Amino acid sequence: MTDKQTTHFGFQEIPVQEKTTRVGEVFQRVAHKYDLMNDVMSLGLHRLWKRFATHLAPIAPGASVLDLAGGTGDLSALFAKKMRYQGRIILSDINPAMLAEGRNRFLNRGVTHPIEYVQANAEQLPFADNSMDLISIGFGLRNVTDKAQALREMARVCKVGGCIMVLEFSQPRLSTLQKCYDSYSFKAIPTLGEWIAKDRESYQYLVESIRKHPDQQALKTMILEAGFDACEVYNLAGGIVAIHKGYLY
Ligand SMILES: C[S@@+](CC[C@H](N)C(=O)[O-])C[C@H]1O[C@@H](n2cnc3c(N)ncnc32)[C@H](O)[C@@H]1O
Repeated sequence: MTDKQTTHFGFQEIPVQEKTTRVGEVFQRVAHKYDLMNDVMSLGLHRLWKRFATHLAPIAPGASVLDLAGGTGDLSALFAKKMRYQGRIILSDINPAMLAEGRNRFLNRGVTHPIEYVQANAEQLPFADNSMDLISIGFGLRNVTDKAQALREMARVCKVGGCIMVLEFSQPRLSTLQKCYDSYSFKAIPTLGEWIAKDRESYQYLVESIRKHPDQQALKTMILEAGFDACEVYNLAGGIVAIHKGYLY
């Protein structure tokens, strides 16, 4: 991390040491409505983005996969299906409420794949070096206080020959799209958060955090600086969302 003493929490500048707790409070509050809100806010599009990420994931039965900041486990569920329920899948998140929602969903659906649940901060991963074929982080990296450190940890844990996939909101490619997207996100999303999750503030943070996240090129540079040998970028929905795929050779 730089020697800066403050960092952003949405558009607020706060002491660095407070960010993880503040983000934790947001997800603790929204966990019970998280899946419903995702469907409503994205008009179901997040499901397509996650399916496309799974399509790009180079995994076969028997692979070892770490779904970081995995929340309620959408990506883990898709990976398990692609791996024909054979192999190791770890659903990891810093937040116990989000992990509990994910665990309940798997139990309620009767998924037989033995998913492992690990509560961990993406900045300090409790996993061995060179141990995972794929590490995903879906809509999670922008919430991490020290993103460069999290990417270095992913490079440490990823197998040589493996890859990481960062699925995250990014920078729309067209200015007209940016304008529509801004008015939808700043006006509609906090209001939907208030109606559905009874929590306007958390959804205001989520919208603001997207604007503070590095754009496609900046994130690609960070991934290469963290130790990856190559990085491909896929824009989805005109760049509203991007997938960065980082490779270790
Ligand atoms: C927007 S949710 C994404 C959940 C899931 N990956 C998905 O795509 O639906 C962001 C998740 O990041 C988690 N998170 C935030 N900071 C984290 C950190 N430092 N380490 C690990 N997980 C973190 C939150 O608890 C939350 O579950």
